[in-house]
Amino acid sequence: MLKIVMCNDPVFSIREHPGKIEWSGLTREAVLEKLFNAVKSNKPAALAYAEHLFSDEVSALAFFELISKTDSDVTFFCKEMDLPAVLTRYAVIEPEKLELTIFAGKIKALPFSDNGKKTIFENFKGFPFSRIDGIIEELAQLKEDEAVALLLEKKRSLLRQNEILEVVHIDDGIDQIGGLNELKKWIIERKGNFSQDARDFGIPMPKGMLMLGVQGCGKSLTAKVIANIWNFPLVRLDFINLFRKGRSVEELLKDAIATLEGFAPVVLWIDELEKALSQESEGAEIRRVLGWLMTWMQEKKEPVFLVATANKVSLLPPELLRKGRFDEIFFVDLPSKSEREEIFKIHLSKRHRKWENFDVDKLAGDTESFSGAEIEQIVVDGLITAYSKNLQLNQKMIEEVLRRTVPLSKTYEESIKELRLWSRNRARNASGNRRIESFFEG
Ligand SMILES: Nc1ncnc2c1ncn2[C@@H]1O[C@H](COP(=O)(O)OP(=O)(O)O)[C@@H](O)[C@H]1O
Ligand SMILES: [Mg+2]
Repeated sequence: MLKIVMCNDPVFSIREHPGKIEWSGLTREAVLEKLFNAVKSNKPAALAYAEHLFSDEVSALAFFELISKTDSDVTFFCKEMDLPAVLTRYAVIEPEKLELTIFAGKIKALPFSDNGKKTIFENFKGFPFSRIDGIIEELAQLKEDEAVALLLEKKRSLLRQNEILEVVHIDDGIDQIGGLNELKKWIIERKGNFSQDARDFGIPMPKGMLMLGVQGCGKSLTAKVIANIWNFPLVRLDFINLFRKGRSVEELLKDAIATLEGFAPVVLWIDELEKALSQESEGAEIRRVLGWLMTWMQEKKEPVFLVATANKVSLLPPELLRKGRFDEIFFVDLPSKSEREEIFKIHLSKRHRKWENFDVDKLAGDTESFSGAEIEQIVVDGLITAYSKNLQLNQKMIEEVLRRTVPLSKTYEESIKELRLWSRNRARNASGNRRIESFFEG
C-alpha cells in the first residue's frame, strides 16, 4: 500500500518512521534502489518525497505496480505544494495533524518562569518543526529574557521572507513612552489576552486598535512598543507599496495575511492610514482593500492584532470608525505639562544625561503646545550646540534652543481643533480623563 502523509515539514514528520530512508548524501538512483529493495522484501519504507524522485510518469507507474504485488507499506511524506498528480491517483492520502503541543514537554522542562515558557511556546508557531528541538536546546543555555529575545529574533528572520511585510524592531519598552497613561494601561492590561486561557475565561480575542491624533505625539512609537510589551513580532504593512508589486493587490494581501496567521501571535501595523487613502490614483482601490482587511479583522480567529495610526480623520472611511470595529480608538493629543516633563526626562536619559541636572519642570512649562517629537528635537539640537562649542549640555542651552523653536501645532491649529472636536465623543483620550490642557480652547 502507498500512503501519502501531507505535512508541513517532511524531514520532521518522518523522524520516527521504522522504514525511514534518508536522502542525505545519496543520489536519486541510490534512494530508489533502497526503496525498491525494501518493497521487494516486504519491509516498510518511508521517504520525504522530492519532485525528482521519479524521472517520469512511466517509472512512477512501474513503482506502483511493484507495490501492489507486495505487502510492503510505503509512506511518502509530502508538502502540499509539491504533491504530484500521478501519486494521488493510487495512494491513500492522509493529512497530518501535528500540533505544537508535541514540544510542550520539552518547553516545560526549560528552567524559566511559567510566563516565559508560555511566551516561548506561543512564539514557536510558524517554525518548521524540524528546527524546534534544536532551538529549544539553544534556549536552554540562556537566561529567560535572552531566550525570549533570541526566539523572537529568529521568528523575525522567518517573517522577513515575505515580500510585502516589513519586520520592524526597536529595543524600547513602555518606559520610553512619556505620558499617554490611559493608552499604556490599556496595552498592559491586554498582555495575556491572546492565550487560550483568556478565551476559556471568556475574553474575546483582541482585534485591533486605532490611534488618531496630533503628529509627533507618540503614535508610531507606541505601535512599535506594543509588540515588545506583548513579546510578539511586529510587522508593518505598507499599503502604498502593495501597489508597486505588479501583482493583484488582493492576492498579495491575502498571501501576506495567511503568512501572518501562520506565525501568529503577531502585531500587524499600518501607519498613517490617511496617507494611503489620499493617493489619487489608487485611493479607491485602497479603500476597497481596507474594507476587506476590516472584515478580516472582525472574523479572524488567529491572534493577529492590528494597530493602525492616523494623523487625520477627514480621509478615513466612516465604516472604519464605527463602534465595535476596532477594540478601541484612542485620541493622542499634544502632551500636557506633566507629560512633557516625562518626555524631557526620557530623551535626556536616552542621551546619557542625568535629568536631575536640569530644571525639567521649567522646560515643561516653557513648551506648551510642543509635541513629543519636538521636545526630542530640542534635546538633540541642544546637544549639537553644546558639542560645537565643546561644552557640556546645560539648562541654558536647551532654553536657548527652545526660544528659537516654533511648534508645528501653531501652524496646524485649525486641524488640531478639528481633530479634538471629532474625537470628543468618538475616541478615548490616550492620556486619561485629565482636563485637556489646551491653549486653543477657551
Ligand atoms: N509621548 C512620547 N514620549 C516619548 N517620546 C515621544 C513621544 N511622542 C513622540 N516622541 C518622540 O518623537 C518621535 C516621533 O514620534 P512618533 O511616534 O513618530 O509620532 P506620531 O506617530 O504620533 O506622529 C518618537 O520616536 C519619539 O522619539
Ligand atoms: Mg507616526
